[in-house]
Amino acid sequence: MRKKFAVIGHPIEHSRSPELHHAFAAKMGIELDYQKRLAAQDGFDASIDAFFADQGQGLNVTVPFKEQAFARCDVVTERAKIAQAVNTLWYQDGLLHGDNTDGQGLVAAITALAWPLHNARVLILGAGGATRGVIYPLFQAGVAQICIANRTYARALHLQQDILQHYPDLALDISEIAALSGHYDLVINATSASLSGAALQLPAALRFDYAYEMAYGKDSDFLALARQRQVPASDGFSMLVGQAIEAFEIWHGCRPELQDFLDASPHNP
Ligand code: ATR
Repeated sequence: MRKKFAVIGHPIEHSRSPELHHAFAAKMGIELDYQKRLAAQDGFDASIDAFFADQGQGLNVTVPFKEQAFARCDVVTERAKIAQAVNTLWYQDGLLHGDNTDGQGLVAAITALAWPLHNARVLILGAGGATRGVIYPLFQAGVAQICIANRTYARALHLQQDILQHYPDLALDISEIAALSGHYDLVINATSASLSGAALQLPAALRFDYAYEMAYGKDSDFLALARQRQVPASDGFSMLVGQAIEAFEIWHGCRPELQDFLDASPHNP
């Protein structure tokens, strides 16, 4: 019987994870079955219990269950602990293990683009779960400084205080988006503005060399602004592939090459 994997979320129909994991498996000569799994909003625990009881080997977790998955784990990685969210689950020695591969997926994506990360000054827009998940891996990749800028200042302050409580030495600044100015090497849009279609306004005084949009599959104000300023930009498809590769390696012990799976994403300028 083929080993069983799945991605669980609500909604789940849009997920590209089965397609990616099947493509990785074909490339690496591994046989597996990877399905989408819709859980009811209040049915996450029951759904993962049923999956693992039925010989499931590994689960990816997506919106809105990543925090619940974190809470359910017996063992989590350091990066998952800082993210307070888990997107990859598996059992080992009778214990439920969890990791968060989103941040490393972003680092792999930016590295594949050959954009500089080492000693970079990075600006992250937004202070929600998407931002929380990538801070630690970015510092691990050697960035010099991260500024979290949020529409609501208090939320950025809360995130900064929470992270500095555990890692007081990190160069982690905060700002209100409207007050931004100066120059950053890289700007990452981790707001949900692109997903909801809401406008994202950035001050004219803000300058940057590279622009990474975490959302994928549609054009956004952020990508349009990067085009207008003639700044190299990417949407988040490469991060999606990157996080999937990290999960694949956890489960199978081998990793496909990111570059082999970056099919043309239509909104990359
Ligand atoms: P996620 O888990 O995907 O990060 P979230 O926790 O709902 O989602 O956080 C969404 C983030 O996008 C927040 O930082 C939010 O800013 P506020 O804290 O001020 O609400 C930000 N956001 C959403 N729409 C935005 C917009 N139109 N302009 C600027 N920021 C926006």
